Amino acid sequence: MALPHLLLLAFSLLFAVATPIRDITDVCSSQIKDFQHRNSTGLHLELHHPRSPCSPAPVPADLPFTAVLTHDDARISSLAARLAKTPSARATSLDAGLADSLASVPLSPGASVGVGNYVTRMGLGTPATQYVMVVDTGSSLTWLQCSPCIVSCHRQSGPMFNPKSSSTYASVGCSAQQCSDLPSATLNPSACSSSNVCIYQASYGDSSFSVGYLSKDTVSFGSTSLPNFYYGCGQDNEGLFGRSAGLIGLARNKLSLLYQLAPSLGYSFTYCLPSSSSSGYLSLGSYNPGQYSYTPMVSSSLDDSLYFIKLSGMTVAGSPLSVSSSAYSSLPTIIDSGTVITRLPTSVYSALSKAVAAAMKGTSRTSAYSILDTCFKGQASRVSAPAVTMSFAGGAVLKLSAKNLLVDVDDSTTCLAFAPARSAAIIGNTQQQTFSVVYDVKSSRIGFAAGGCS
Ligand SMILES: *[C@@H]1O[C@H](CO)[C@@H](O)[C@H](O)[C@H]1NC(C)=O
Repeated sequence: MALPHLLLLAFSLLFAVATPIRDITDVCSSQIKDFQHRNSTGLHLELHHPRSPCSPAPVPADLPFTAVLTHDDARISSLAARLAKTPSARATSLDAGLADSLASVPLSPGASVGVGNYVTRMGLGTPATQYVMVVDTGSSLTWLQCSPCIVSCHRQSGPMFNPKSSSTYASVGCSAQQCSDLPSATLNPSACSSSNVCIYQASYGDSSFSVGYLSKDTVSFGSTSLPNFYYGCGQDNEGLFGRSAGLIGLARNKLSLLYQLAPSLGYSFTYCLPSSSSSGYLSLGSYNPGQYSYTPMVSSSLDDSLYFIKLSGMTVAGSPLSVSSSAYSSLPTIIDSGTVITRLPTSVYSALSKAVAAAMKGTSRTSAYSILDTCFKGQASRVSAPAVTMSFAGGAVLKLSAKNLLVDVDDSTTCLAFAPARSAAIIGNTQQQTFSVVYDVKSSRIGFAAGGCS
């Protein structure tokens, strides 16, 4: 075992002991018990904002917003690397033990999984224990930190999953179909341990990754359970933020939670990402189709597991931006739950920035903040922001509130929560907050409805 890893482990242990139990404030007391509810329409889970004090695994409250933006940029880079088909973890040829092999994973601790991702709970094992998990539409494999953490685990909220204490746990052999399916789910090669257990490598850019044993066990949400759920039992986990135990993948791939639950719940899910300390939801199963406006999922040869859609126009205070209509689709566009700031094709971004600044003439401009260059004095809830809409092919529209448009970067500054895109445009979560967003994979469409949560 490498020395830095040992130090890290010692450090985490120290912290686990030294960290005082967080006071549950009045704001959160009604939400301590996350609901996990199954009824005729499907499975309903509670979602928390990553920086909400009510989250069961909040990102540290003193994390400066520049750090959030840095991690957001790392997420963009990893999505871009996916599209360019350049895996961000190095392929390793593993045939010794996991511990030996992991010494060759050339990554240093980072921290980007979960800075922008919303959080829920998932039960695993028999008897079931609940784990705090980040929810990610931009990746497929579900994994969590797993005892004995051969190389490294971060401190997490609640106990670590211990395969030995679950009577239904089994590791997955190298010849299993699910082991062959791993590369399409993680975009990294799988490997095989000396005891013939399949090893996965999931990586997220900015040196965040999880490596461990492909496993199966009973997954449960409230009283609903599913045996033989395939997931990763992480023995080397770097960059998991907050105190989550792991990640739930919701992308379009056989190994994602969506696909594994689909035989009983169907190929669709709906979420509402809350903007604040109140809670939102993630529902797997059917939905009420009448309340949404839809845009088709676009298939892309770049990556068939991410959710591509087509942005078709934007207005500011009722006027279309002064760009050609082809500018909106000059880059492939992904809708993503874990990216904080929406990235637009450069010409669209510039036109938006100009139009918003013009509409906010009465508000003092202030200097750029990290990647955000259109900033104003004040807070999003206080300034008078123009009405902005984002339209998508087929007629779906997001009518952005001031809080979907602007993000408060400190106590006295608010910035346009958009930035220029590099290789792909991304519809990020600031813009999706409070809308119900349905991902109907079966009908190949994404729908938006206002007023899903607060
Ligand atoms: C199912 O549960 C969800 C979440 O609690 C609720 O919003 C929905 O109305 C319920 N549907 C039915 C048909 O009971």
